[in-house]
Amino acid sequence: MSQSLSGRRVLLIIGGGIAAYKALDLIRRLRERGAAVRPILTKAAQEFVTPLAAAALAGQRAHTDLFDRADEAEIGHIRLARDADAVVVAPATADLMARMAGGHAPDLASTVLLATTLPILIAPAMNVRMWQHPATQRNLATLTGDGVSVVGPNDGAMAEAEHGPGRMAEPGEIADALETMLTARSERGGLGFLAGRAVKGSLAGKTVLVTSGPTHEPIDPVRYLANRSSGRQGHAIAAAAAAAGARVTLVSGPVSIPDPAGVAVIRVETAREMLAAVEAALPADIAVFAAAVGDWRPAEARGGKIKKDGSAVPPLTLVENPDILATIAGRTEGRPPLVVGFAAETDDVLDNARKKLAKKRCDLLVANDVSHEGGVMGGVENTVHLLGRDGALDTWPRLGKDEVGKRLVARFAELLSKAPPA
Ligand code: C5P
Repeated sequence: MSQSLSGRRVLLIIGGGIAAYKALDLIRRLRERGAAVRPILTKAAQEFVTPLAAAALAGQRAHTDLFDRADEAEIGHIRLARDADAVVVAPATADLMARMAGGHAPDLASTVLLATTLPILIAPAMNVRMWQHPATQRNLATLTGDGVSVVGPNDGAMAEAEHGPGRMAEPGEIADALETMLTARSERGGLGFLAGRAVKGSLAGKTVLVTSGPTHEPIDPVRYLANRSSGRQGHAIAAAAAAAGARVTLVSGPVSIPDPAGVAVIRVETAREMLAAVEAALPADIAVFAAAVGDWRPAEARGGKIKKDGSAVPPLTLVENPDILATIAGRTEGRPPLVVGFAAETDDVLDNARKKLAKKRCDLLVANDVSHEGGVMGGVENTVHLLGRDGALDTWPRLGKDEVGKRLVARFAELLSKAPPA
């Protein structure tokens, strides 16, 4: 077993849920990787596991009470919040997440979480309906916006004989995510946590280019070919990247939604204009092609309005538009280190997405089902599948497009930290 967390000090907050038993295994795994683990158990956690078990596995005392006199004299909650390299919350229950998001501090665990400036990783675990509840999703968005890293939850059978997202990530996955989080932070030049904590900092100093919205391909001065794209997903990604500290250029087709804050917006109409604007905006560290670019345009855009004069219906001959994503991803020089494509599919979503990833040579492909029933195209929610070059597949639950944007940005930051420099 590699000592990949050698010398790291982890403050492990164990929340009160059935997954708390897995937190004991997590202690063991973290120690195997060389970390020192100091456990804190919430009151509810102690219904599932005992402080004694946690302490025995950690090889040091487990903390439980905010007003423990011995504790306060010996170490104190503020020192607990400081004397480590990272805080891991596992399981992060709906209630613990709500307290974190709201800044409430009624007990030792939440006081430490409020007082700490260390990087925080949470491993949510709860009933699928609690996870999907808008309140939990709002809290999750607040926490990721504050720079908290998240691992899981996974899909699968749950203790209540239900199925869906809500199972805590496995201890090995949590340990891996902790390593990734700590490595990403130290590779960003040892940013102090206050700078690096917020997703505000996770893309600090990076440049991000996003395409968004539909294109309009003119038939004549008043008519055009277009599609149903609202631009919501691309705009949400641009907003989240800006909130993460990146310098963002958004190349947008015609949309009716507001410009995201803190983003340079270049407005275009056609696919060819979009390609020109993208090329002018490069170089970038990350390029995200979320636009629904028209695949074809009328071979000829008439200079004057085509008249309906009772004679034959005018013919419409189409020619292919440039593929912006494939053009940029295929560059040998000046290719952004992380190129992200989207695949809006109505049939065989994953199969088509896999083919698209290979054909367009992107590093990450975000696939979604845009068949009419789903209401994704033009709507406010999205269910996405993430495909990596290595074939890895991740499916997220149905989420608001803003939330998808934030999560994608967190993933980009993680991937970029592993990508070879341009
Ligand atoms: O339309 P298609 O399914 O091929 O789109 C897949 C990806 O390619 C998307 O990321 C889209 O933004 C991009 N694309 C592009 N230029 C095109 C067509 C698609 O950049 N002409």
